[in-house]
Amino acid sequence: MAGTSASRDDDLEELRLLARAAGAVTVDEVLGRWRTPDARTFIGSGKLEELASVVRAHEAGLVLFNHTLTPSQERNLEKALDVRVVDRTGLILDIFAQRARSFEGKLQVELAQLRHLSTRLVRGWTHLERQKGGIGLRGPGETQLETDKRLLANRIRQIQKRLEKVAQQRHQGRQARKRAELPVVGLVGYTNAGKSTLFNALTEAGVFAADQLFATLDPTVRRLRVGSLDLVLADTVGFVRDLPHELVAAFQSTLQEACEADLILHVVDASDPDIDERLRAVTEVLETIGAVDVPQLLVYNKIDLIEGAVVRTDRDAAGQAERLWMSAATGAGLDELRLLLEERLSGRRSLYQVQLGPAEGQLHARLFREGRIVSEVILEEGGWQMTLDLPDREAIRLGWLAPPDPDAEPVA
Ligand code: GTP
Repeated sequence: MAGTSASRDDDLEELRLLARAAGAVTVDEVLGRWRTPDARTFIGSGKLEELASVVRAHEAGLVLFNHTLTPSQERNLEKALDVRVVDRTGLILDIFAQRARSFEGKLQVELAQLRHLSTRLVRGWTHLERQKGGIGLRGPGETQLETDKRLLANRIRQIQKRLEKVAQQRHQGRQARKRAELPVVGLVGYTNAGKSTLFNALTEAGVFAADQLFATLDPTVRRLRVGSLDLVLADTVGFVRDLPHELVAAFQSTLQEACEADLILHVVDASDPDIDERLRAVTEVLETIGAVDVPQLLVYNKIDLIEGAVVRTDRDAAGQAERLWMSAATGAGLDELRLLLEERLSGRRSLYQVQLGPAEGQLHARLFREGRIVSEVILEEGGWQMTLDLPDREAIRLGWLAPPDPDAEPVA
């Protein structure tokens, strides 16, 4: 593959990740700066020459553009370079096609590909048909190339009908879970933040996690027990900047689960320098799908990559846990996350005045990690006088609150 771009560095880094996720090996990158894209070939003739010689030198089989190309630009470039040319949208479509796992996900991707294809039917495929398969040609692309628009439209209608049915079934599944009154926790986050890794760590299930974008294209739903609480954990597809519009529907449908969750675990890569921008991007999408009012807990993941970072819970002025710093890969902070899930989903908290002796340093460290300490005074004789904010369940566990009397009369 030879990449080409006129974009910022982090944009280019994302293109590299996308290329790797699609299974391409980057052999070279050609950068350029041009104000008005050439109508015929997007890049000017000098740049095209340069690109052609790079392609020849490496015997590259694919050129990726980090821009949206018109069908005719793609065609002209392919003719000039005699290799397949794929733009950012085509690349993302290809990754989605490889990653979709559920029936619905596959249908959504096929629909997106067909729509993408139908805008490109005019292109001359023949000169490249011998290169069937490979990036940009996977999925329905291979079989639909020779079909005309009428067949394509039929297929699109057929898929839409099936999708409606699947959506209905999923709705019923959700209703059934609601009837069982299990709280639902939705995992959302920018791609590569570590959602699948966290999902696996919590459920110990073998969901495919890879250092690749879009390792998850479908919500994967598992039942899970934390402490004495049963809940449903739903993994979702990762967010990405400038998602091609053909894929927005597919993407949003996988997020509906999160939209109806009782709690959203918003996972971010705490070691990512772009963290603020990514937080904003995810929040914007949550607003679009109407999930912005669902309570959120931010998971600042990958603290093992930050020097000096430790497991920590940040709380707001009212004592509500807002942010947990942890590492899904090493498991540091997983116990704290389980406790926070229990705390956020079940029940009451109270303030406790507690004195700990000097020998209780371990318990003190744990209370600190869990962000339970509202204030504390270090005692002269050693130990701590503290005000703690504890969920009832935790206070019972520590022996500071009597468990509820099962024989007690219910309070009206
Ligand atoms: P998408 O499915 O693309 O949205 O990604 P995701 O958010 O599900 O990320 P995934 O769990 O696949 O993790 C992405 C990469 O980050 C993998 O290589 C993980 O091994 C790595 N990773 C996840 N959590 C941690 C962590 O706590 N520390 C470190 N160092 N790496 C992590």
